[in-house]
Amino acid sequence: MSGTRVRVALVPPAPGSLPRAACAVAIDVLRATTTLAVARAHGAARLVPFGGTAEAIAYRDAHPGTLACGERDGRIVPGFDLGNSPFEYTRERVAGATLAFASTNGSRAMLAGRDCRRRLLASFANVSAITAALADEADVWLVCAGKLGQFALEDAACAGTIAWRLRAAGATLADDAARLCATLAVTNEAEVREAVVHADHGRWLTSLGEAFAADVEFATRLDHVSDATSW
Ligand code: MLT
Repeated sequence: MSGTRVRVALVPPAPGSLPRAACAVAIDVLRATTTLAVARAHGAARLVPFGGTAEAIAYRDAHPGTLACGERDGRIVPGFDLGNSPFEYTRERVAGATLAFASTNGSRAMLAGRDCRRRLLASFANVSAITAALADEADVWLVCAGKLGQFALEDAACAGTIAWRLRAAGATLADDAARLCATLAVTNEAEVREAVVHADHGRWLTSLGEAFAADVEFATRLDHVSDATSW
């Protein structure tokens, strides 16, 4: 662990721009990486991120056993099989399936690390499993999805929780963004709620209706996924 260097991107850098030798951790607490942690825990076989929704549909149509998933403006895309709510990703729907996933910001965070040696997805659903999985990594990039190119508090708080825990175990926080995010680290669900429900994105999703508000509440639950979600 003492050799681990942790960096944070507060918004996604360009697709494929992170170092190949790095471990890239995409973070989109609301809602992509929370939802995909559930999808993998329920047996989704493979995740393939796309920047565009038409590309996801074309991939689905060319690859049997694939579902087109994600959102635009928070809502399911016409022609998609699933939206971006964790409640949709039941074992019955996703076990064994490939998910062609296109969301507004989460996909961008994933694609930044598409060429990295190891690729993980973090949220409060699996923050302890992700932190443990990073113990032996040399070069860790925590990539916050943000919202339309802007800072998002819930992603920074999740990145900060991971960075803070890694530093406590001997890692070095290698840039100012990592040091800033570590000041936002949370230790319990009440603090997670503060960072998620009251964040701009949390308030926006809640304004869309009861089902969306339930998704926001779901994203505040800590560590109900015990595997380090990968893609
Ligand atoms: C995104 O990728 O932009 C989000 O997951 C949006 C959402 O909350 O559906």
